[in-house]
Amino acid sequence: MRKTAPAWPCPTPPSEPEPNPKTVTQQDHPTPYHLDTLAVRAAVDKSQYGENSESLYLTSSFTQPDCETAARRFAGEEEGYIYSRFTNPTVASMEKRLAALEGTEACIGTSSGMSAILLLCMGLLKAGDHVVCSQSVFGSTLKLIGSEFGKFGVESSFVSQTDVAEWKAAIKPNTKLLFAETPTNPLTDVCDIRALADLAHNAGALLAVDNCFCTPALQQPVKYGADIVIHSGTKYLDGQGRVIAGALCATEKLIAEKFIPVMRSAGMSLSPFNAWVVLKGMETLGIRMEAQSARALALAQWLESHPKISRVYYPGLKSHAQHELAMAQQSGMGGAVVSFDVKASNPDDARQRAFHVIDSTQLLSVTANLGDVKTIITHPASTSHGRLTEAQRQAAGIQQNLIRVAVGLEHLDDVKADLSRGLDTLK
Ligand SMILES: Cc1ncc(COP(=O)(O)O)c(C=O)c1O
Repeated sequence: MRKTAPAWPCPTPPSEPEPNPKTVTQQDHPTPYHLDTLAVRAAVDKSQYGENSESLYLTSSFTQPDCETAARRFAGEEEGYIYSRFTNPTVASMEKRLAALEGTEACIGTSSGMSAILLLCMGLLKAGDHVVCSQSVFGSTLKLIGSEFGKFGVESSFVSQTDVAEWKAAIKPNTKLLFAETPTNPLTDVCDIRALADLAHNAGALLAVDNCFCTPALQQPVKYGADIVIHSGTKYLDGQGRVIAGALCATEKLIAEKFIPVMRSAGMSLSPFNAWVVLKGMETLGIRMEAQSARALALAQWLESHPKISRVYYPGLKSHAQHELAMAQQSGMGGAVVSFDVKASNPDDARQRAFHVIDSTQLLSVTANLGDVKTIITHPASTSHGRLTEAQRQAAGIQQNLIRVAVGLEHLDDVKADLSRGLDTLK
């Protein structure tokens, strides 16, 4: 008696999914869809129930109709979902939507931004290979490429983010990968993606760009020749600080040949729930990035004129060393991260003065994340970049008096008032 009829009226679902003409892809449309449209409409794979909001397939495995079909699916001879370590419809929807936004053929979701970089390195590198990486990338990226992959015989060179000649000089016959992040965390240095892509390709190497700060709403690295785009979905793609997630976008060939086999064996998989949160988060990406960038520019301009601040780092400011490049590469917007140095008379009180400004806030969130609609304030030298040696921190230009603000969606007057509490009471 397992199949008793339900005791309440319940429509019998159609056995076949309803036709779904409203899933859009760039390829099947005569004129390119705009990013805002793709963010909402790409990859809506409806089930037979015809739900309007994307469904969440929270399941670890998928039942198979019979052993022969299962054998073909496990062997990759037939399409079909098998096991959520490497195949899940919700994760696939998130991947298709992000690929549509980045303008890449394919995408693979990962459990975090760092596991996307782990997958990148595991997929492309072996002992004896060499990586050239900006010395200003996120602290854990420096550690992963320099120290962890160093243990397995992968060589690395760390170079100036902005000096193309230094990148060129670092390339060796065994260089397989150039890795950049633009703008960088936390100093917002901008590199010339086109110039680095040309260098990489002339050397027979690939260029990977961490696009976490800009997102495809502002910058599509493949347009400038990058081969692979890395994301921490934890940041602006989710946009509300709810989940840890990551992704790697590239050609179908690279994903199929280099990255899916590693994912299947190593399992740095994105959970379906987190994929669903990011999938829904991307629907508001364009409007959030625009609004948060506008607030960040206004905040940066205010900070630049503040008597207690010696320097502001923000690509949207004319004073930023790569302002013109950033405006050309980032759709005319600076992004939503602003960093600044609090004036300090000597290195010893630099940290205390930065701590005073941060600890005086009552509204901003004191945490190390970014990309949230809640404005976040961070002391990079003791948190996100705290595990670096002093020499690595100096090379990255991160001093003890540096503060990073990841601007959210609060009213700017309230953010300024909160920062003024500490800035105005500095001795
Ligand atoms: C630029 C950048 N890339 C990658 C990461 C790592 O992302 P996750 O925390 O999702 O592993 C971060 C985290 O702050 C980041 O700022």
